[in-house]
Amino acid sequence: MTKFVISGGTPLTGEVSIGGMKNAALAIIPATLLCKGVCRIENVPKINDVTIMLGMIEKLGAKVRLVDDCVVEIDPTGVTGDAVPPYDMMRSIRASYYLLGAMLGRFGTAKVALPGGCNIGVRAIDQHVKGFEALGANVEVKNGFVFADSPVGLSASHIYLDIASVGATINIILAAALTPGLTIIESAAKEPHIVDVANFLNSMGADIMGAGTDVIKIRGVETLAGGTYSIIPDQIEAGTYIAAIAATGGNALIKNIIPKHLECMTAKFSEMGVEFEEFDDAIRVSANGRFKKTNIKTLPYPGFPTDMQPQAVVLLCLSDGTSIVTESIFDNRFRYVTELSRMGANISVDGRVAVVEGVPKLTGAPIKALDLRAGAALVVAALAANGISEIEDIHHIERGYEMLVEKLRGLGANIARVSTPDAEELPKVL
Ligand code: EPZ
Repeated sequence: MTKFVISGGTPLTGEVSIGGMKNAALAIIPATLLCKGVCRIENVPKINDVTIMLGMIEKLGAKVRLVDDCVVEIDPTGVTGDAVPPYDMMRSIRASYYLLGAMLGRFGTAKVALPGGCNIGVRAIDQHVKGFEALGANVEVKNGFVFADSPVGLSASHIYLDIASVGATINIILAAALTPGLTIIESAAKEPHIVDVANFLNSMGADIMGAGTDVIKIRGVETLAGGTYSIIPDQIEAGTYIAAIAATGGNALIKNIIPKHLECMTAKFSEMGVEFEEFDDAIRVSANGRFKKTNIKTLPYPGFPTDMQPQAVVLLCLSDGTSIVTESIFDNRFRYVTELSRMGANISVDGRVAVVEGVPKLTGAPIKALDLRAGAALVVAALAANGISEIEDIHHIERGYEMLVEKLRGLGANIARVSTPDAEELPKVL
C-alpha cells in the first residue's frame, strides 16, 4: 500500500509551477481522433488519467509517441473505428465518454463503456445522449456499454441542453466538428477547458464559434489536419496550491497560470482574508492561517468551481465563525467530511449543504482519500494540521495532480510518499 505521510504546521514558501489542465487534456487527446494528421500536444500533465486516456486511443489504433515529460505526438491515421478498448480501462475514468463524441463524429459509430470516475454523485450522461440523438445518431445503453451509430451519417441540429454540462458540451462539439451544417448548442457550459478544446479543433481546421459563452456554433468541416497545440494551465491545480499556501499561513508564488481563470476562486478566497499579488502569468499568495467565515455556493463557470469546494472547506474549518457551503453541481460531494472530522473539523452535512464551524486548529490523523479533490483537500488539511497525518488510497489523488510530493517539497512541505507491504504480502510468521 502507498500513502502520503505529512508532518503539518510548516508555512509554505518559495514558488511552484502549474502543469497543463487535466480536464482539457482528457478532452483534447480523444479529440485528436477527429484529425487526419499527426497532432503534437504540449503542456500535457503527467497524471494517471492521461496515461489511461493515451492507452485507450492506442487500443483504438492511434500511434502515441511520448516526446518528453509533457509533450505527446498522436498519429490517428491508423484508427479505423472498429476497435474497442478494454471495458475496465474505459470504466476507470470519467473522460472515456469523450471517445463517444470523437468516434461518432469521425466514423459515425461508437461503442464505449459507461464511464467511471470520482464517486461524487449519480453523474448521468442523458445530456450527452440527447446531443447525439439530436445529431441523428441511434443511441442505446446495454451490457454496460453505450452504443451509438448513424447509418445515414450525422446532420447538424439546434440542441438545447437541460444542464450546463461540461462533458455534454464538449462531447457534442466533438460529434459535430465534422458534421455537415451548422450545429448550435444552447445553455452550453463555459469552462475555460471548453474554450481550449474549441481552440485546439479550430487550430486543426474546425469552425467553432462562441466557446466560453452559453451559445456555441459548430459549422462542420470536411477534414481536420494535424498540427501543434499547447494545453492551458490547470486552474484547479493552481487553486489547490492557493489553498495549501493559505492554510499553512505561507507566502509563495504560483507560476504558469492564467489569472483570469482563477478569478472565480481568488474573489472568494479574498473574502476569507487571503491576499494576492497578480502578475501576467503568476500570482503570489499570502495568508496568516486564520480566515474570515463566508458562505460558498458552487456554480458552473464563472462561479466558484465545484472542484475547489473540498479545498475551500478546509480553509473554512480554520476560520472564526460559521460558514454555509452549498454544492449545487454534484449530489454527493461532501463524503470527505468524515475524514476531516478525524482531524478535529466540526462540519455537519445535510444533502447538498454543509455547515462549517471554525475550530482553533486541526490535528494530524490517519485518513483516506475518497476521490480526487477530496484527497487534495486532505493534503491541504494535513499540511496545516498540528502533527503527523497518513493519507491512504492516494491513487485517487495521483489521478489528477502531477508530481505532488516534489512540488510541495519545493514549497518547504514536510511530505513523503511511503510504500508499505499490504497485510497479505507480509510473511506468515505463525
Ligand atoms: C467534468 O465532469 C469534470 N470532469 C469534473 O471534474 C467537474 O467537476 C465537472 O465537469 C464540472 O465542472 C472531467 O472533465 C473529466 P458535468 P462532468 O457534465 O462532465 C449532471 C475533477 O475533479 N449531469 O458538468 O461529469 C452531473 O451528474 C472532476 O477533475 C447530468 O445530469 O460534469 C452533475 O451533477 C470531478 N446529465 C452535473 O450535471 C448529464 O448528461 C454537472 O456535470 C451530464 C451531467
